Amino acid sequence: MKKILIVSGHTDMNDSVANKAILAKFAEKLPESRCVYLDKLYPDFKIDSKAEQEKLVWADIIILQFPVFWFSMPSLMHRWMEDTFLHGFSHGYTGNKLHGKKLILSYTTGAPIEALDFDAFFQNIKAACSFCGMEYAGSISTGSVSYAMRQEPGQMDAILRKADAHAQRLIELVHQL
Ligand SMILES: Cc1cc2nc3c(=O)[nH]c(=O)nc-3n(C[C@H](O)[C@H](O)[C@H](O)COP(=O)(O)O)c2cc1C
Repeated sequence: MKKILIVSGHTDMNDSVANKAILAKFAEKLPESRCVYLDKLYPDFKIDSKAEQEKLVWADIIILQFPVFWFSMPSLMHRWMEDTFLHGFSHGYTGNKLHGKKLILSYTTGAPIEALDFDAFFQNIKAACSFCGMEYAGSISTGSVSYAMRQEPGQMDAILRKADAHAQRLIELVHQL
């Protein structure tokens, strides 16, 4: 059984619809997976590097789940990466702890997904992945789940349906690995 770690980079899950629903569905279908809610653990952005490294070491598959903020991952997830992927752990002469692990990007956007080449924004993550000896295993994305849409009649249901389909695609990708 592959060990799956899903890291949620949303900065405020209390104000999330899509990411919350994706994570709930994923946990329901794959209860043996582990989920790290960065906003709950680190509202002050003070990352416990050792604890986070231990979770990464445990995992075979690492999923980064996040809403796109300013064409990138949220600041909290970036901070988590900066404080966890450290020299001697993930890279450097003795830094081989992430070697062979698989990385999936799973993200949501306010804009329609076809509006922009969102995957192109994540070249940096793919480069970091390869730098650390990890295998980039692809991305799952869902667009048109903006804050503005939540106010429109019937759109809340549409967002939840999209989140459900997103979780299903993510599960299928995990099963292929
Ligand atoms: C600070 C901020 C920046 C955002 N930047 C983008 C962006 O660059 N592109 C985009 O399509 N959506 C952007 N959005 C919209 C979010 O991606 C969208 O609200 C989120 O994916 C919805 O997920 P949630 O329901 O889990 O919060 C931004 C939202 C916020 C709050």
